[in-house]
Amino acid sequence: MTNPIKLGIAGLGTVGIGVVKIIQQKAETLQARAGRNIEIVAVSAKSKNKDRGIDLSMYDWESDPVTLANRKDIDIFVELIGGHVGAAKNSIFAAIDNEKHIVTANKALLAHHGQQLAEKTEDKNKLLRFEAAVAGGIPVIKALTEGLAGNSLARVVGVMNGTCNYILTRMQSSGLSYDEIFKEAEALGYLEADPNLDVGGIDAGHKLALLASIGFGTKVNFEAVQLEGIGQISIDDINHAADMGFRIKLLGVAQLNGDGLEQRMSPCLVPAASPLGQLEGGTNMVMLEGDHVGQIILSGPGAGEGPTASAVMADVIDIARGVRIPTFGQQANTLRTVQSVKSNTRAPYYLRLSLSDKPGALAKVASLLGDFGISIDRMRQYAHADENAPVLIVTHTTDPQSIEKALANVPKTGVVHDKPVALRIEPL
Ligand code: HSE
Repeated sequence: MTNPIKLGIAGLGTVGIGVVKIIQQKAETLQARAGRNIEIVAVSAKSKNKDRGIDLSMYDWESDPVTLANRKDIDIFVELIGGHVGAAKNSIFAAIDNEKHIVTANKALLAHHGQQLAEKTEDKNKLLRFEAAVAGGIPVIKALTEGLAGNSLARVVGVMNGTCNYILTRMQSSGLSYDEIFKEAEALGYLEADPNLDVGGIDAGHKLALLASIGFGTKVNFEAVQLEGIGQISIDDINHAADMGFRIKLLGVAQLNGDGLEQRMSPCLVPAASPLGQLEGGTNMVMLEGDHVGQIILSGPGAGEGPTASAVMADVIDIARGVRIPTFGQQANTLRTVQSVKSNTRAPYYLRLSLSDKPGALAKVASLLGDFGISIDRMRQYAHADENAPVLIVTHTTDPQSIEKALANVPKTGVVHDKPVALRIEPL
């Protein structure tokens, strides 16, 4: 039997404890699958005395994760601290300098420093794996780097933040406002310590940037992701979109177009009957479009102890087996730098306007859209008690710039109250 593979685990929160539990409970199965024992040598967390509900007394304790990363007797440094500054960053860099393999769930760190980390790890002939960083328990990194390695990707589309999907689907099922459901999600402990990571689209943006890098063979470029959160989504939009046969999702889309790489994380409409439209609660879904395979859809739990620990273990077992996959599916020094472009991919749009209910008002709006080459596909005006009529328009496919220009000219019509809502309808 090959020597055991030895782990140092930094971070004993939900995920860290989940990993320890799997290793304690499934030692024999893991040994059979990995071909060698998987042993935890030492652990590190902020508080040693906290009751975590499992016995950790057989492992060495390191109060500083950097000291753990520097230990001579570990092969894999498992970083489950989180965050792209401070302890997580310092300890991962230390572990690489000390020629350890790295397994991490840290999307933020990889989104900000992925290229440098991958190059440094590969220079040392070691592995850096991050299945748990994207879409929790869904093996999407493995699908991209292995199962779909023979394809060129056309597009990556997905719902990659369970908290946002929970909020949006709960708004729809309860008829309650964004603020009310936000508080509910907070009470349930679904939100990150900084809720803007979730509702601002940042967490999902990190994940999208990582998938785009693997999918398109490009350097991670999180700064170029066009980010828009769900804070502005009203219950009216959820209801009106449903009435028109759509659901609103915080949707990540990455694709190469003629000009460069487009990456956006923003609220979009999707057909209610589509797999993404049907996605409920905290579940994640990623749709991958390969030139040979066609469309692959993966869905499953995007967070939580079991699912995230399951993904960490997949990486640990791969390393123990001797599987050698570069961090982003190809050597980091072969990843391309591509121009980042603002979305110019054509799509239909959903527009919601509050219109003066007087003769000719609708004609003025229709004429403005016509001036920018935007054609109306469907339209509805709803009953209203005051002088402002809620009007919904679904356009034919148009380009985002035309929508932007038309919206900028809306005030000139003199018949539209409040800021119009414009949401892209992502073709699926
Ligand atoms: N907060 C994330 C989510 C999980 O709600 O999906 C961690 O990325």
